[in-house]
Amino acid sequence: MNKTKLELIKERALLNHVPIIMDDTLETIEKYMKNKKVDKILEIGTAVGYSAICFTKFLNLGGKIDTIERNTEMIKEAKENIKIISQDYKINIFEGDAVDILPNLNDKYDMIFIDAAKGKYPFFLEQALRLLNNDGIIFADNILYKGYVLSDYNKHKQRTAVNHLREYIKLVTENPKLDTEILDVGDGLAVTKIKF
Ligand SMILES: C[S@@+](CC[C@H](N)C(=O)[O-])C[C@H]1O[C@@H](n2cnc3c(N)ncnc32)[C@H](O)[C@@H]1O
Repeated sequence: MNKTKLELIKERALLNHVPIIMDDTLETIEKYMKNKKVDKILEIGTAVGYSAICFTKFLNLGGKIDTIERNTEMIKEAKENIKIISQDYKINIFEGDAVDILPNLNDKYDMIFIDAAKGKYPFFLEQALRLLNNDGIIFADNILYKGYVLSDYNKHKQRTAVNHLREYIKLVTENPKLDTEILDVGDGLAVTKIKF
C-alpha cells in the first residue's frame, strides 16, 4: 500500500532522530479535541512541522496555527513539509527563540502545545496562560521526561530540566484557577484548562 505524504514525513523524521510527537500522545490530544473545532493554535517547538500538520485537522475553516522554532535546519525542513502537505496557508512559523517571541504575541489561542526546551517550561506556562482563551486548553509534552521527573535519582545532566518540569507540574496542579491532569502517555503529557 502506498504511504501517505504525512506518513513519509513522519518516517523521515524518525529516521533522522527528530523527536516528534509520539503516537499515543497524539491520540490522547485527539480525544481531548474530538467534537471541537478551533480558530487558533499555538505550538512552541515546530521541529520539522509534523505535529503542526497533524493539528490542522482541529481547525475551523479559516483557522490558523502559529508555531515557533529556533533551529534554522528544522525551520527549512518544516517549511518544505508543510508545503508538501499543502497546509502552508494554515501554518505560520515564527522563526527564533520562543523566549523572545512569546512576550511579543498578543493573539488569544484555543489550544497551546508546549514542546520545546524543558528548562523553559515554567516561562512557557506563564506566557501560555496569558495567551489562552478562557475555554482553551494547554498540552505540555515530555512532562515526565523518561520517568526522571518522578524518580529520586537524576543524573547531573538532566537535573535542571527535571527541576523545571517539576516546577511546571507544581504550578499547574497547585493553582486553584486551573484544572490539570498529568497523563502517563508517551513521554508524559500535562493537560490544563482554566476552571470556570
Ligand atoms: C520535541 S521537538 C518538537 C517536535 C514537534 N512539536 C513535533 O511533535 O513534530 C522540540 C523543538 O523545539 C525547538 N526548541 C527548543 N527550544 C526552543 C526555544 N526556546 N525556542 C524555539 N524553539 C525551540 C527545538 O529546536 C526542536 O526542534
